[in-house]
Amino acid sequence: SRPYHLLAIETSCDETSVAVVRDGSDVLSNVVSSQIDTHRRFGGVVPEIASRKHVESITVILEEAIREAGVTLEEIDAVAVTEGPGLVGALLVGVVAAKSLALALNVPLIGTHHIAGHIYANRLIGTIEYPALALVVSGGHTELVLLREEGRFEIVGRTRDDAVGEAYDKVARALSLPYPGGPHIDRLAHEADEEIELPRAWLEPDSYDFSFSGLKSAVLAEINRANMKGEPIRAKALARGFQMSVIDVVTTKALRAAAEFGVRQLLLCGGVAANRGLRERLAAMCAEAGLPLLVPPLRLCTDNAAMIAAAADLKWRRGEFTPLDMKAEPQLSL
Ligand code: KG4
Ligand code: ZN
Repeated sequence: SRPYHLLAIETSCDETSVAVVRDGSDVLSNVVSSQIDTHRRFGGVVPEIASRKHVESITVILEEAIREAGVTLEEIDAVAVTEGPGLVGALLVGVVAAKSLALALNVPLIGTHHIAGHIYANRLIGTIEYPALALVVSGGHTELVLLREEGRFEIVGRTRDDAVGEAYDKVARALSLPYPGGPHIDRLAHEADEEIELPRAWLEPDSYDFSFSGLKSAVLAEINRANMKGEPIRAKALARGFQMSVIDVVTTKALRAAAEFGVRQLLLCGGVAANRGLRERLAAMCAEAGLPLLVPPLRLCTDNAAMIAAAADLKWRRGEFTPLDMKAEPQLSL
């Protein structure tokens, strides 16, 4: 049969992205326009500025994605878009663009959950075997999601305070590193030849939940202590201590949950999946446990529209479409 093309739009935070994906997993284009340079001087994402930037970029990025994919608009069979969660003003830009396009082209609209997108980014690089466990680590989310079958999500653990990426960004800020801080902490941790031991938040013995605010406070306390004593701040040793604490807790809980639920695969996803230390440790632990691990390449880990197409494709196959009166849902649950 003739190939089908999904066009997907992602605007939930500070990336404007449009992708064209053929037959569910063949990425023809995945254009990502990051606003990071704009937000950097504020040390984080400013919602009003994010929406305005999305408005400025969306049509340009759309045209670029179509051109790069080498398809015509008439060849688009459905339009997918991130419905939530995210910043409401940012989501709205994508939702309005997607609705207009679906209406104009007279094709179905498919609203998609942002985290389902992060998880199903793994469909673009391999075949998911169920039951599977997804470790979702991003700037806004830290969750262990059990997928007993395709499209069915059960959150078995989540953060009780900061998301991992958020903790990385806050610690980086305290060390005067630029936003987003994750990659900088990752680099310093690798350069370190010593480590300041920091606490690990295991919580209750049977809990798969996470907590990173205590760890973050421990870093801040150490910085304050050094400042009070007029000692230099040992940024590398602190970065390493922080990263080791995060990696220990996150990987141990993921492997324990994988064993308890008898999953056939572990899926790593979200922006923090770019973390070298985390990828390496998880790969080693999974190899030892004989548990297959899927990790998307970096460009598919951070926010992008191809992952939204990958998640929407499952709905497309089931004929699950979204009415044109769809709204942006900033608090959408999985
Ligand atoms: O998934 P994402 O692009 O956006 C959200 O949906 O949140 O994740 C962005 C987060 C930021 O907090 C950033 O600091 C973090 O991912 N991040 C990293 C690394 N690269 C990006 N954190 C740790 N190590 C990295 N190498
Ligand atoms: Zn994300």
